[in-house]
Amino acid sequence: MISLPAPAKLNLYLHVTGKRDDGYHLLDSLAAFAAVHDTVTVEDANDLSLTNIGPFGDQLSNDQDNLVMQAALRLREITGISAGAKITLIKRLPVASGIGGGSADAAATIKGLVRLWDIHPGQHDLSGLALSLGADVPICLFGQAAFMGGIGEEIDPVGDLPETPIVMVNPGVDVATPSVFKARTAAFSPARRFSETPETTKQLIHLLNDNRDNELMIPALSLEPAIGEVISALSASGDCRFARMSGSGATCFGFFSDMEKAEAAAEKVSKSNPDWWATATRLVSDTRSLVADTTI
Ligand code: C5P
Repeated sequence: MISLPAPAKLNLYLHVTGKRDDGYHLLDSLAAFAAVHDTVTVEDANDLSLTNIGPFGDQLSNDQDNLVMQAALRLREITGISAGAKITLIKRLPVASGIGGGSADAAATIKGLVRLWDIHPGQHDLSGLALSLGADVPICLFGQAAFMGGIGEEIDPVGDLPETPIVMVNPGVDVATPSVFKARTAAFSPARRFSETPETTKQLIHLLNDNRDNELMIPALSLEPAIGEVISALSASGDCRFARMSGSGATCFGFFSDMEKAEAAAEKVSKSNPDWWATATRLVSDTRSLVADTTI
């Protein structure tokens, strides 16, 4: 039995730099991860099956609509393997929420099945497989903080970012990524990669405040005003140094000076908004440092 963490992805900034003929948008984004994660467990079985458990498990299907199942089926296809696997997904991250939960699950499934089925990754195009599943799957498969270019397939590691305590908050509303891209009206903007890796949270915040935004925030907010309430709640939760939306929303994150303050802020936000999901965690630059949480 192999259990792997499927951590949340955070877009620390996200610029839309252009659009391809097929409708996909070209991005410049700095992606990192959070310690909070879904867990994917794979074990030997004759058939391929998926069971979803955990707090958000009942919001997902266990058939080919689920990216986990799609990842397993496509991996079988490109490797010519016909083995089965019993896959269990502990779903702790809110779905359709801008933190790449489904993409992380798909990436963890690929990593788990590569080990279970003894696949030699060098012989197969796993990056191509990842991109075919979704624009965020390559960065999740890579698993390290990086600048993303293209539609998400160009990955340049940024190095170790500060392990900042963070609070993540989702208002419990699904936001469909295609609708957010469609609602964009702003002009395309240039890429704004850093030339050096920030060593402290203060430096990171300074760089993020320097003409680097999440440009999907305005269109997402026009579709889902609750995002504004989330940013306000985070900003007012005490000691929040910086608050921003991730991906196409609606999850937002705030940076805090220490974990105790982050935990107090998450509790405060949860108490005032019982229907929201709020959690204190930390920024992670290398997901290989995470150990899979197998508690439900
Ligand atoms: O690749 P993924 O399935 O995550 O993308 C969902 C949708 O989001 C796409 O069909 C597209 O409408 C939009 N998208 C985009 N440009 C990107 C990523 C996603 O336009 N770079």
